[in-house]
Amino acid sequence: MSYDVEKYVALDKKHVWHHLTNHKNFEPAIYVKGEGNRVTDINGKTYLDAVAGGVWTVNVGYGRKEIVDRVAAQMMDMCYFANGIGNIPTIEFSEKLISKMPGMNRVYLSNSGSEANEKAFKIVRQIGQTKHNGKKTGIIYRDRDYHGTTITTLSACGQFERRMQYGPFTPGFYSFPDCDTYRSKFGKCEDLGVKMAKQLEEVILNVGPDEIGGVCCETMTAGGGILVPPAGYYETMREICDKYGILMLMDEVVCGVGRTGKWFGYQYWDFQPDIVTMAKGVASGYAAISCTVTTEKVFEDFLADNTDDFFRDISTFGGCTAGPAAALENIAIIERENLLENCVTMGDYLLDGLKGLMDKHAIIGDARGRGLFAGIELVKDRETKEPLPEPMANAVVGAAKAAGVLIGKTSRSFRGFNNTITLCPALISTKSDIEELVAGIDTALCTIEQKFGL
Ligand SMILES: Cc1ncc(COP(=O)(O)O)c(C=O)c1O
Repeated sequence: MSYDVEKYVALDKKHVWHHLTNHKNFEPAIYVKGEGNRVTDINGKTYLDAVAGGVWTVNVGYGRKEIVDRVAAQMMDMCYFANGIGNIPTIEFSEKLISKMPGMNRVYLSNSGSEANEKAFKIVRQIGQTKHNGKKTGIIYRDRDYHGTTITTLSACGQFERRMQYGPFTPGFYSFPDCDTYRSKFGKCEDLGVKMAKQLEEVILNVGPDEIGGVCCETMTAGGGILVPPAGYYETMREICDKYGILMLMDEVVCGVGRTGKWFGYQYWDFQPDIVTMAKGVASGYAAISCTVTTEKVFEDFLADNTDDFFRDISTFGGCTAGPAAALENIAIIERENLLENCVTMGDYLLDGLKGLMDKHAIIGDARGRGLFAGIELVKDRETKEPLPEPMANAVVGAAKAAGVLIGKTSRSFRGFNNTITLCPALISTKSDIEELVAGIDTALCTIEQKFGL
């Protein structure tokens, strides 16, 4: 299909306010077709999409007719009724989801990652109000983590550049140090996970255990730099939280539903969370859906004799049936096509390829990730680990695009550290896709090294 490019570009520039975009001297790109893990722009150029729709979303790839058919049939049967009433896809999806999350039991639906996290925070606060005489309403978040775009999720945001200019914030949020192993102040040691997690206890004691009701972490920090906590980290955190009666909230908005090679990233550690949130990969972008999943124990705190004490929260579009219908088929595809297994195999292959590039490119300081959640941190100097300046890192992304590969980058996140290239190709990626991706990055790095004399 051909389009009147000039017309659409002009109309986009005239009327569309794009997300996270400075519109001064902005030239829009317009994508018109997605198939598998490729997208085609309005000029007819096709790219390998290693950003899963830009922000870790299209996990099972584009053009999935089976999802479209299921959603279409569901919408003809019963498109919507407010979530106070049951519907078939929500019931079936909740059962399926819980079968992938031993120890969890209740599924609360909404529409975005931010909203799912807001629900989680409201759950913590209401438990504080009803069960702890108004105490334990405080929530601790981790530096470099992101939990959403609303004022309260930004109050729990460890990325300065996302927060700045949006205060004043919701009170009762406190931060603890990040889980960056590459730049860890503890260096490399056997018990790094334990040491890093213990930093949480210092904050709990400083604020006062009576004030803190929850701790919220991105299981693996995504937009803050592809940070995978070390072994022992969450197990230690669980012990600390149990000691002080604190709920553990795992934000799986990026890692959830297969991205790291398990259904949920937290399943790489041996502990039981209290609340898990998810959004992006739940329906791979085919419909808007997010979930706040709790244990039965958390849910029971809302079985109220008093009419004020049940969870008095609603989300209008949490009643759309398109979300759970798409999510059911999304999970069915992952099962049918063994995509978790493929994610692990291709993730290892990708990481090997990225580590291989380190021999050739001194500006790669570190290559890291888990499954098809990966990144390379770019530095000016491997010894000092001085970050590559952001304009140069941006130029790498541009050069990769020119070479036909869409890659991401930490952006508007942690001041001075927007130097990590982020990669999240679809879980359907093949060996040759990964080779093409690594070759595209290689080409981009060569171009930028030459351009800036690095
Ligand atoms: C880890 C994490 N949590 C929450 C969110 C917020 O999700 P949404 O943009 O759907 O509100 C994001 C979005 O990028 C995210 O990466």
